[in-house]
Amino acid sequence: MQIAIVGFGFMGRMHFANWSRCEGVDIVAICEQNPNVLQNLNNPIGNIEGLPVAIDLSRVNLYSDLSEMLAAERLDAVSITLPTHLHADCSIRALQAGVHVLCEKPMALTIDQCDSMIEAAQRSGKHLMIGHCIRFWPEYVKAKELIDSGHYGRVLAASFRRLTAAPIWSSGNWLTDEQRSGGMPLDLHIHDADFIQYLFGLPTAVCSHATLQNDSITHIHTLYDYRDKRAIGAEGSWLPTPSFGFQMSFDILLEKATVVYDCTCRPTFRLCPADDQPVTPPLADGDGYAREIAHFAALIQGKTTDPVITPAQSRDSVRMIEAERLSATTGRPVELTPHNP
Ligand SMILES: NC(=O)c1ccc[n+]([C@@H]2O[C@H](COP(=O)([O-])OP(=O)(O)OC[C@H]3O[C@@H](n4cnc5c(N)ncnc54)[C@H](O)[C@@H]3O)[C@@H](O)[C@H]2O)c1
Repeated sequence: MQIAIVGFGFMGRMHFANWSRCEGVDIVAICEQNPNVLQNLNNPIGNIEGLPVAIDLSRVNLYSDLSEMLAAERLDAVSITLPTHLHADCSIRALQAGVHVLCEKPMALTIDQCDSMIEAAQRSGKHLMIGHCIRFWPEYVKAKELIDSGHYGRVLAASFRRLTAAPIWSSGNWLTDEQRSGGMPLDLHIHDADFIQYLFGLPTAVCSHATLQNDSITHIHTLYDYRDKRAIGAEGSWLPTPSFGFQMSFDILLEKATVVYDCTCRPTFRLCPADDQPVTPPLADGDGYAREIAHFAALIQGKTTDPVITPAQSRDSVRMIEAERLSATTGRPVELTPHNP
């Protein structure tokens, strides 16, 4: 398969490293607008440091314009790892050129943009997958497996957290510009909203409280209402100080076990059964990025038919965030209907 990467910042490099490890894949092209980016390839950026492979671009064609690249190359798939405001337009152009698209999360800034992406994918007959890597992250995969097994009874309550200092490392500071990133709820907290949707489906309503600074949400607490007398919540924040680093964590309280994960603790993952000592069960190899890209490769090679995440679910995660934002700013719960409006 011939692959290209569009946008070669933090996530572009992550996709490069993980596509490089897929069998039968050649990364033939990269589209990156900023020439300085390609000159400073080994500077660490982003909140998860360390790339698994060194970057060698000697056999890769470089472009600064997506249309030019799509016209010149015979591509099977692209990774869209651009700032969020460009996801819809660039994914649609790639789909229209007959190319499978793996686009980073969040799907897009608005529901209308998500709809246009879904329509373009349907018209092209090509795969469109949004990179909600947490659905592939070993600890989160294990938590879902434990819940779905039914062995420990029902989930009675669950709480998810994702906290990091405001990301001021992005090119042109696009991440802290709400017009380009959607702000903290859409950029960061959507990981947990999407995972909650993956575990429990679309909630009936959301109820959020938030800290607003200059009219932007920098910290949010949300309760997801499933009308079944269970407390399911998530917290996201860009308020920690830089020295705090990055924390993602969850506590899932089942009838017969408590499952906890915290990326800042050792061990990171514990299964605490009602009738036994805590254990750390074996987790899948690799990180969520590697597993997500291997899954997308398998999907387009026809080696699996299970999408793990559909474009409609990715759109629903954007809807959840829109509803949370509305709830936080109006001070009332916001309902979510299960079908598209
Ligand atoms: N899945 C995750 O855990 C995760 C983590 C971080 C970021 N992301 C998402 O990945 C996407 C990219 O984020 P990032 O942190 O890599 O940003 P980044 O700023 O590090 O990289 C974006 C790159 O795109 C380039 N670019 C901008 N406009 C372009 C254009 N028109 N054509 C070609 N290149 C262009 C920029 O020069 C930059 O190098 C965002 O949507 C973000 O939300 C996902």
